[in-house]
Amino acid sequence: MSLRPDVDLVIRGAKVVSPDHIFEASVAIAGEHIVAVGHDDTMPPARQELSAKGLYLLPGAIDSHVHFRDPGYPNKETWKSGSAAAACGGVTTVFEMPNTKPATGTVEALNLKLKAAESSYVDFGIHGLLGDDTLDRLDELLEAGVTSFKAFVGNTFGNLPAPTDGALLEGFEKLAPLGIRTVVHAENSSIMARRQDHLVKAGRIDALAHLAARPAVCEIEAIGRVLTLAEWTGARLHIAHHSAADSLYLLRDAKRRGVDVTVETCPQYLLLNTQDMLRLGGILRLNPPIREQRHNQPLWDALMEGVIDMIATDHAPHTPEEKTRPNIWDCDCGFPGVETQMPLMLTEVNRQRASLMDYVRWSSVNPAKAWGLYGTKGVIAAGAHADIAVVDMDRTGVLSQGKLQSISKISPWNGRAVQGYPLHTLVRGRFVMRDGHLVSEAAGWGKSVKSVQRMPKPQPKNTEHYTQAILTTPEGLPTNALPTGT
Ligand code: NCD
Ligand code: ZN
Repeated sequence: MSLRPDVDLVIRGAKVVSPDHIFEASVAIAGEHIVAVGHDDTMPPARQELSAKGLYLLPGAIDSHVHFRDPGYPNKETWKSGSAAAACGGVTTVFEMPNTKPATGTVEALNLKLKAAESSYVDFGIHGLLGDDTLDRLDELLEAGVTSFKAFVGNTFGNLPAPTDGALLEGFEKLAPLGIRTVVHAENSSIMARRQDHLVKAGRIDALAHLAARPAVCEIEAIGRVLTLAEWTGARLHIAHHSAADSLYLLRDAKRRGVDVTVETCPQYLLLNTQDMLRLGGILRLNPPIREQRHNQPLWDALMEGVIDMIATDHAPHTPEEKTRPNIWDCDCGFPGVETQMPLMLTEVNRQRASLMDYVRWSSVNPAKAWGLYGTKGVIAAGAHADIAVVDMDRTGVLSQGKLQSISKISPWNGRAVQGYPLHTLVRGRFVMRDGHLVSEAAGWGKSVKSVQRMPKPQPKNTEHYTQAILTTPEGLPTNALPTGT
């Protein structure tokens, strides 16, 4: 009999959280995988043990929406600093957005990003850019490593032009048969541009002018439009940072009709409103804007109901100087969030606004399903990646922007009291945060999820009307339908 321990780590006596139950168990990890979940007595001998009595084990959070700015804006964030923030926030996988410099719309730009991501602490997917001039490159971008696409239908940081409706439809026609999901920033750019123009000319420079430029109708209109195109083509759709109560009915109805749309919202839309905008000004400027209080509870209800599927953060770091200029139009849009999401949401769980099981569904299970990772990620079970957030629901503290891992040390959550923290974060069996501290040697451990991504079978629709189909001369077409030669 060998005396060599069978596994690398056993986490003893924790409460394991799934969307359906919370049960007391120990977890054995060998290499990158969970190999056993069960009664403590059944655990194999281990090289290392972690006592987790009184703590909860959550499948690591999967954040569908982060901006790590790398390449292009190292003064705002890098893959190393952004992913360190993820690690310290209990987030084990991130999906990173294409509005970097260069934007992730060519294979060369993607390769620059993949190079930068070699320093990541956490696993990652890459959203490639879907726009009028990237339509011909979708296949090669997928081949080279993007997991999904993003269409900036609403203008935002980076000022990438919104795709035309024709290009969006064509993009969906190309992606529907492949089963690839497209993230859409759903706001109507032309409405916003006109209103902002008027507001600027009228001399408005106050924080609420930003909301006046981007009322909920922008979101309602854009969501309606992209749902129509997704439903027609059968393309998979993901609505980024859903912010308005008024557009929920469109999503509810579309889901009832079987449209494959997933939806994220962010802690800021659930917990903050125009009162905070008045208090914080440009720090809270982001797109879509922070809205009136009447939106907060309906968004929460939509999460409970399943109309909104998940929590993402839209981690959008800028420097303190870029966030605090006197004129609202000069303040960059967005703020860091990947590190504060878990304590903020666990605090709401402690307030009994949702259960830990709900939280795990929103933070990990549903994003894993949306991006084709479920089973490998999003679950604590034998065979899955050992991506785990070890959580203390009793620990209290105050969020402090100065302590963030992000380069962007400015946050609307600064000074907010919370209860519930991740203490340790494991990515594929390796500690990336331990006892609340970043494990700096783990930089570079993160890798792309592309090789484990398995999207369910696609269901394209109306393919006979697809651009490719209408450009092909069908056999037997009446000769008078064809152009006559000269
Ligand atoms: C984001 C950014 O800064 O990249 N800003 C924001 O206000 N949310 C872009 C985005 O997601 O819209
Ligand atoms: Zn966005």
